[in-house]
Amino acid sequence: MKRFLFFAFAIYVTAIFSCTHDPIYSPPDTTDLTGNEPCDPDIIYYEKDIQPILNSSCAYVGCHDANTAEHNVDLSSYTKALREVEPGRLKNSELYEVITTSNPGKRMPPSGKLPAELIGPIEKWILQGAKNLTCDQSATNCNIEGSTYSGAVKGIMSTYCYGCHSGSNPLGRIRLDSYETVKASANNGSLYGSIAWVSGYQRMPDGLPKLDDCNINKVKNWIDNGAQNN
Ligand code: HEC
Repeated sequence: MKRFLFFAFAIYVTAIFSCTHDPIYSPPDTTDLTGNEPCDPDIIYYEKDIQPILNSSCAYVGCHDANTAEHNVDLSSYTKALREVEPGRLKNSELYEVITTSNPGKRMPPSGKLPAELIGPIEKWILQGAKNLTCDQSATNCNIEGSTYSGAVKGIMSTYCYGCHSGSNPLGRIRLDSYETVKASANNGSLYGSIAWVSGYQRMPDGLPKLDDCNINKVKNWIDNGAQNN
């Protein structure tokens, strides 16, 4: 009996400790989704929400792309990225560990910590079961009118551009991580030119899929209205 109690206690303690680090969060029920529904802002869709972050911040050439796969980590597709996470468990997910650790020797990306607005969707994706859900983006309301820097442009820049255009050593010597620097690129025409793939400009994001029309038009609308700090 004593033995049994000891084991029961040990299991109880293990259970408590192994749960403490995952936040209390009840993910939305996604079991009946067909993939053809309009996008729900509370649900994380891998190709739409996660792959662009990994592309920009981790999966570029020379790091965790399919060819280089530094340290055998390839973050260029869903099946490969799934090897670095345990669905539903942040604590056991290497991908989450390296982007949140306070140990600078272990932290990724090596150029500096990801901003909170990029860690957030990755955290939510893992807690929602690290699924490969899709939604119908064309059926989703795209509110282009009155798009603002803080409400639209900043988020688009962080998801698709920060990996290469932030911090102290940005590619092309272009930073897109503050209002002033984004405005400078808007003013000289290269911001719109590069994301709309206008001839004469480098196509951005570099080597990656073009942004969808909704995001391109949000940036355009903001520029057309004077690229204000709104
Ligand atoms: C994978 C890395 C990478 C990503 C992601 C990326 N860029 Fe670039 N970007 C580059 C490189 C490299 C250059 C320099 C190209 C050159 O000079 O040949 C560059 C140059 C630029 C330029 C100057 C282009 C020109 O023709 O004058 C702009 C503007 C730009 N990027 C905007 C963006 C925007 C906006 C995004 C996000 C939508 C983005 N970039 C995402 C790597 C990237």
